Amino acid sequence: MKAEPVYETPLLLGWATQYLERNRVAKPRLNAELLLAHCTGRSRVHLYAYPDEPVPKGQREAFALAVRRRALREPLQYIVGSKGFRYLDLVVDRRVFIPRPETEMLVERAVQLIGAARGHPVVVDVGTGSGCIALSVCRECPAAVVHATDICGRALEVARENARRLSLEGCLALHGGDLLHALPGSLSGRCDFILSNPPYIRESDYMGLPPEVREHEPYRSLMAGPTGCEVHLRLMEQAPSWLSPGGRLLMEAGEDQLDFLLMRARHMGYPEAEVFPDLNGRPRIIEMRWG
Ligand SMILES: C[S@@+](CC[C@H](N)C(=O)[O-])C[C@H]1O[C@@H](n2cnc3c(N)ncnc32)[C@H](O)[C@@H]1O
Repeated sequence: MKAEPVYETPLLLGWATQYLERNRVAKPRLNAELLLAHCTGRSRVHLYAYPDEPVPKGQREAFALAVRRRALREPLQYIVGSKGFRYLDLVVDRRVFIPRPETEMLVERAVQLIGAARGHPVVVDVGTGSGCIALSVCRECPAAVVHATDICGRALEVARENARRLSLEGCLALHGGDLLHALPGSLSGRCDFILSNPPYIRESDYMGLPPEVREHEPYRSLMAGPTGCEVHLRLMEQAPSWLSPGGRLLMEAGEDQLDFLLMRARHMGYPEAEVFPDLNGRPRIIEMRWG
């Protein structure tokens, strides 16, 4: 009987790295390592510490399939099915936008403000996607009463699944619909914090997006309209009816959109509006107070 050939880590990683490089995947070696770690259930350190350990046939086949998907520019996070966000490990797939590190800064600022609020502040995450913002608030601010909305029912399914897996389903109310209109009327004038990472790509930038984003992430999670600020402006118009006196609206935006949004906030009568930087020192968050 012919012996089964032995495929060890360096051989598999070498093949995958070259294949991904030929298909213009950025950081091909890192992608190959993360995919092999995922398919074998071993850590990246383990792959290097025990390079001679054979990889069984089933795992090799799963790895080959995963590498081919990545070569077609499917995002790594959809292939491995998860993404770390602050203290949470979230399930992600093509129904939702993949949470980005910039958004962790929005949560950082929100958590400071919510933590300093008295009683049980009401917090709303608009356009929740995977639930990353809302579920982080649930985990980090246990006194908060958290609601989240999304116009996409499939995104809400993922947010619900994440809430269940993290045992946070009792802390979060999910609502389907357009921006704040999705909320029950009883919350009108009672929301202390409205948080959002809305879609903010302008139409003319669509074709220039990397294939990972353009061909795989949900169109509705990305695109806002001709200027990219359309969803922010609608939310800024709606928010005053929902905010409590002194309540705050915090939104993520593109670096080149913030001056315009600041100007519009003043025109709309928000008494305070301020911009905060992300981890790279770039302005990415706008915070405004109402009343
Ligand atoms: C950029 S993604 C952000 C997702 C998640 N909050 C995050 O930071 O990863 C924008 C989200 O807003 C949702 N969305 C787009 N338009 C909306 C609308 N009019 N009302 C409610 N949600 C909307 C999309 O379905 C998507 O989940």
